[in-house]
Amino acid sequence: MIVKYTSADFIIRGARVFLGKDNPIEQLDVAVKNDIIIAVAKKLTMQAKLVIKADGLVLSPGFIDVHTHDDLEVLRKPSVPAKLSQGVTTVIAGNCGISAVPTSVKSGLRDPINLLGAKNEFVYPELKDYQSAFVKAKPCVNLAMLIGHISLRAQVMDNLERAATDPEIEQMQGLLERAMSQGALGLSTGLAYYNAKQASEYEVNQLAKVVTPFDGLYTTHLRTEFQGIIDAMDEAFATAKQAELPLVISHIKCAGKENWGRSAEVLAHFEQQKQHQHIGCDCYPYAASSSTLDLKQVNEGTDIFITWSESFPDIAKQHLKDIAQQWDLTQLEAAKRLQPAGAVYHCMQESDVQSFLGYEHSMVGSDGLPCDPHPHPRLWGTFPRVLGHYCREKQLLSLELALHKMTALPASHFKLQKRGKIEIGYFADLVLFDPEKIIDNANYSEPKQSATGIQTVWVNGVESFNVKQSCNAHAPEGRAGRFLTRHNHKNY
Ligand code: ZN
Ligand code: CU
Repeated sequence: MIVKYTSADFIIRGARVFLGKDNPIEQLDVAVKNDIIIAVAKKLTMQAKLVIKADGLVLSPGFIDVHTHDDLEVLRKPSVPAKLSQGVTTVIAGNCGISAVPTSVKSGLRDPINLLGAKNEFVYPELKDYQSAFVKAKPCVNLAMLIGHISLRAQVMDNLERAATDPEIEQMQGLLERAMSQGALGLSTGLAYYNAKQASEYEVNQLAKVVTPFDGLYTTHLRTEFQGIIDAMDEAFATAKQAELPLVISHIKCAGKENWGRSAEVLAHFEQQKQHQHIGCDCYPYAASSSTLDLKQVNEGTDIFITWSESFPDIAKQHLKDIAQQWDLTQLEAAKRLQPAGAVYHCMQESDVQSFLGYEHSMVGSDGLPCDPHPHPRLWGTFPRVLGHYCREKQLLSLELALHKMTALPASHFKLQKRGKIEIGYFADLVLFDPEKIIDNANYSEPKQSATGIQTVWVNGVESFNVKQSCNAHAPEGRAGRFLTRHNHKNY
């Protein structure tokens, strides 16, 4: 049924509108009523309660951050300023094998689930429990959730440093199936982590199969991003293939000095496999990674910055090398003493980062860590950095390709219905920005800085951020994010 509208709630007039990577950016008017885009044309004459002049600015679909750890952050801080101020309107949570669902306080905080929050925040045995909390908190961004393998393990296993037994796999399958039936997008793994490393391919395959009838997807933080990356990719391809699932490789990178310069080989391997199965990948625009402090990654050749330490909170925010020197210990000994702790690892080469970011088929995902007291700057800077630093300044990629990686491409990989495009009938998730000014301000020493150049952000037709009033989402009426269930999800 085609609804004919005679009036709009607002019209954005004269912006240069991004209509998809194969279309030139064009000066157009866009009209919105309620939460929907109702008209896109050269000169709209329909009535509107509000007209927004946007000459010289670019209007894009709201950015989709495909790789986040915002599961609990959106409940804790529903105005989610780190995301909204970058133009992000939808986040995918539950990445890297860790998710807020299924959880219970009694299962304890296994590494790296502690990246998501404090022990008492993990109170969501089922996805529907989380969904109720989301609706109640009314966050300003849309969120869809993956179910994390380590979170599943933590629910059914006492000791995670081994492969799961058949009965444990069955229990995990039950939990995963339940979450899928309630609208989760798919399964995520973080096989590089200590608490998943011993999981066999069989264990992961058995879980992935549960996702298939639901038409979900499989995302993975590979078993290794260091020298063994090709084998780790093959494992991911095989898991997805046997389950007939689409695959997304998370934060693709060449980590560790011995592995630098291999991005061309990694991408060639990816391209080749792309001929045979449905695969995607995401990356962030920085040459440093961040996570909990992993002893395996401690070596004299990598500069590691300690962002927090539970045992020695006062000594954090220094380089591990300096802490080790003060304690007269090796870096590894010092790292052991600091546990549990968080770190930024300067483990990549800039040219590899650029290869992955410039690659036609990669998406942008921040991997931001909102609980970190001194977070990696990707939390506040990822999207404006791609548009300002890599598009405008370095001309690594075109504005059209960059926007595609942040909008339509992720909407199609994650099957988000009616999002990621400016088209009649699509949800009015929109971002208006100045392409000449947009730039990230967050850096390694001052990481909590909002970006410059984002003018206005609308989520489901509601103005949620405006550069003049800053974050409208601090008030509940400026918060219109929705919990997005899988596209074919019906209430079971
Ligand atoms: Zn990860
Ligand atoms: Cu991650």
